[in-house]
Amino acid sequence: MALLEVTNVNKRFGGLHAVNDVTFSVEKGMIKAVIGPNGAGKTTLFNLISGNLPLNSGKVLFDSKEIQALQPHQIANCGISRTFQNIKLFPGMTALENVMVGRHTQSRAGFFAGMFHLPTSWSEEKEIRNKSLELLDLLEIEQFADAEATSLAFGQQRAVEFARALASDPQLLLLDEPAAGLNIYETAEIARLITKIQSQGITVLLVEHDMSLVMDISDEIVVLSFGRKIAEDQPSAIQKNKEVIQIYLGDDDA
Ligand SMILES: Nc1ncnc2c1ncn2[C@@H]1O[C@H](COP(=O)(O)OP(=O)(O)O)[C@@H](O)[C@H]1O
Ligand SMILES: [Mg+2]
Repeated sequence: MALLEVTNVNKRFGGLHAVNDVTFSVEKGMIKAVIGPNGAGKTTLFNLISGNLPLNSGKVLFDSKEIQALQPHQIANCGISRTFQNIKLFPGMTALENVMVGRHTQSRAGFFAGMFHLPTSWSEEKEIRNKSLELLDLLEIEQFADAEATSLAFGQQRAVEFARALASDPQLLLLDEPAAGLNIYETAEIARLITKIQSQGITVLLVEHDMSLVMDISDEIVVLSFGRKIAEDQPSAIQKNKEVIQIYLGDDDA
């Protein structure tokens, strides 16, 4: 069953066709990757799904419901959560507080109460705290709960970001380049954490440059080039695809 269905989606920036008639779907429970050279339209595609950018045409269905006209917070409330290509943790807050802010978006008192430490009911605050600690534990960073989030190593900051994204209880998690800036050991850890998230029943759609990570953990891969989908298949078939090999041989990042 498809959890996410992207159909004939288009996005133009002036004369640039950044996402060109892209169609694909993500089955419930899978890890799907979107790859392609720099500028291929991967981040733009994520921004269209999460509502951070309006699309020019096309449809996005989540759980069989059209979401392409909704605001980002409404899409988040439907059960889609995301992380960003550049880590965006709140400075001056601990790892635990960063995750609690992510949980507050789900609570009655809401995001701004979380940001500005406005009082919520005591029982609600306790629930938010316990759930956030559980997520730090799931991501194996519970020992850093009280450390300032932005002082942690990059790999740990990524894990805090994952925990914060999971705090809203999403069904679908969008990860934009989760291994960016990480060394090979941290990348291997992040790969393991992503499969751990999948094992919790959460569907994952990720954009990633690191081919070994993508090939290791993805069930299926979509390849974008200049805004167009040029291939969609299982990792073993993508590795043998001539057009894909061609665009990567022509790309210095590969
Ligand atoms: N807000 C924007 N305004 C104008 N052009 C943009 C904007 N965002 C992205 N682009 C352009 O759209 C293309 C796709 O960008 P992006 O989605 O960031 O690619 P990727 O994530 O695959 O590297 C690039 O040519 C980029 O310069
Ligand atoms: Mg990008």
